[in-house]
Amino acid sequence: MRQPLVVGNWKMNGRVGEAEDLARAIAEAEVDWEHVGSGICPPFPLIDRVAGAVQGSPVAWGAQNLHQEDSGAFTGEVAGPLLKDLGCTYVVVGHSERREYFSESNELVAEKFYAAKRNGLIPILCVGETEAERDAGKAEQVVREQVEAVLGDGKEDAFRDAVIAYEPVWAIGTGRTATPEQAQEMHALIRGQVKEGYPVTGQSLKILYGGSMKAASAPDLMAQEDIDGGLIGGASLKADEFVGILRAAV
Ligand code: G3P
Repeated sequence: MRQPLVVGNWKMNGRVGEAEDLARAIAEAEVDWEHVGSGICPPFPLIDRVAGAVQGSPVAWGAQNLHQEDSGAFTGEVAGPLLKDLGCTYVVVGHSERREYFSESNELVAEKFYAAKRNGLIPILCVGETEAERDAGKAEQVVREQVEAVLGDGKEDAFRDAVIAYEPVWAIGTGRTATPEQAQEMHALIRGQVKEGYPVTGQSLKILYGGSMKAASAPDLMAQEDIDGGLIGGASLKADEFVGILRAAV
């Protein structure tokens, strides 16, 4: 049985002071921490503040992105070694907003995925189709290609010590959550694809759902066989909502 994992992706939100208060409220909440993992991925400048607020609690922390190189003349970028120095556990790679707004290709996302692993971080690989791709019957093909870009030549057990988040783009920030059946179908396809080359890893791989998950919708989603938790945007900015999702995961 895979232990569920609920990670908050704060996106470009949070201020000094508020960040510590929110993180602390989550870390101090009454949750069955023995049976659910959790992490908070704030904007880069707030990582150390969040770390300080949750230090010693069961809540981990991480980043929303990283550069594919470990150092160099890349103004404005942040590399894996620094995230490791900051005690990060997770790093989100290939979020649809980065694929769209920053033109991150499947190939670049794969490079970032391996940069995370190279630096002892757990990459959370985001995959998911747009509404147009789903309407055109291409959801499976799109997601399969996104996963395949990381699987590559199959010479490496890529998804050992990694997480995948299925985030249908049409559900992100829209309030339109995928139905449990829609999400389960895609999660099962993703798991099957990984199991083709690495059955053990595929079975143990945590596949999170992301896309307007709230405390109210979490129980039915978490009840699905291949949904192992959530990557949470808007609801992660409200302690009671995020804690409600954590409780629903157990
Ligand atoms: O990475 C998680 C995020 O894309 C989901 O956002 O606001 O729909 O929960 P939201």
